Amino acid sequence: MPTKELVTKVWIDPGCIVCDACENTCPEVFEVTDDTCIIRPAALAAAFTKPLTKTIIEAAQECPVDVIKYETAAVEVSDEDAAKIFGEGESAPAAAGAGASVSTEPAAPKAAPAAKPAAAAVAAEASAARSHAPVAPADIGDPNVQALLRAATARGGQAGISKARGGVISADPLRTDPDNLPPDARFAKTLLAAQKTKKDPTRREAITFGTVAMVGGWAAFAAATGIVIGPAGLSFSMPRALEEPDPRVRVGPLSQFLEMKPGEVNEDYKPKGIWMIREEDRIAALNIICTHLGCIPNWLPNDRKFLCPCHGSGYYFTGINFQGPTPRPLERFRVTVEDGIVVVDKSKKFQHELGQWEMPESHLAV
Ligand code: FES
Repeated sequence: MPTKELVTKVWIDPGCIVCDACENTCPEVFEVTDDTCIIRPAALAAAFTKPLTKTIIEAAQECPVDVIKYETAAVEVSDEDAAKIFGEGESAPAAAGAGASVSTEPAAPKAAPAAKPAAAAVAAEASAARSHAPVAPADIGDPNVQALLRAATARGGQAGISKARGGVISADPLRTDPDNLPPDARFAKTLLAAQKTKKDPTRREAITFGTVAMVGGWAAFAAATGIVIGPAGLSFSMPRALEEPDPRVRVGPLSQFLEMKPGEVNEDYKPKGIWMIREEDRIAALNIICTHLGCIPNWLPNDRKFLCPCHGSGYYFTGINFQGPTPRPLERFRVTVEDGIVVVDKSKKFQHELGQWEMPESHLAV
């Protein structure tokens, strides 16, 4: 009989943020209380966790703060049982060799989450929401939006994200620091604001209305006084709020980045959406947007990785992905040197999976 790695023990380290993600994924094992998450008593037995190996591993991988831990052991299972545990046609993690194989990390290959009825409903809602909601990618780096994405993701999956992106960006209740709110409070505010903003005019509508009113006012004034308003006059009277920000960012002298050690990450320009990194033979500028669904990962210097708080995608310092649901590496921006200053152009991106990281301006050779 073939052997497979099955989960024989599962536990939760300190640091749970009560986001509900694990209970949504594997309710048989995880129970989220008001303050924390616990393992249900029945799930303390290996006989209970083994058949749930797949969803336990998924829950661990999706945990935004990586507090779900588990051990696996090589167990003999029939093909029929393996199919029940890992799904028809999906490859199950094979045992690593003779004897027990123990791991406290989610070492099993990432399998696609099983389509559950609830998940399918959420996906359908997300799709519907995406097709109607105005998306504001330009504001995605806003800390309020990021907080909404994290909270909404934890509670509502992609549907929550669509709501956060589409309708809640200017949520008044988030004037307080959203990171200091408990997830439940954030989620409640997300829903409240979503309901509010449906009835309120969007910012774009407000700007358009204001512009029309202003131009109308100027025209009436001109008619009354005999002044002719030409294109220059109109341009002068128009609000400048819709202008695109300059995509070029001067990040500092080249010498500063030459002094970095290989493997080092400079976070000085993270507020501008850029991580500067130093490889053995090149300097590059990473786009900080997670390539899964657009959250902003954190750089964990001790673990030498970027970890996305929304669904747990992990990237090496180079931007290459190695864990979680993201399908591809982080993107890189064009980098050039002008008068000894490194300039990052965020309007031009390079994707590793398209072989673009070898193109001349995707990095500075050193
Ligand atoms: Fe999903 Fe980053 S947005 S892992």
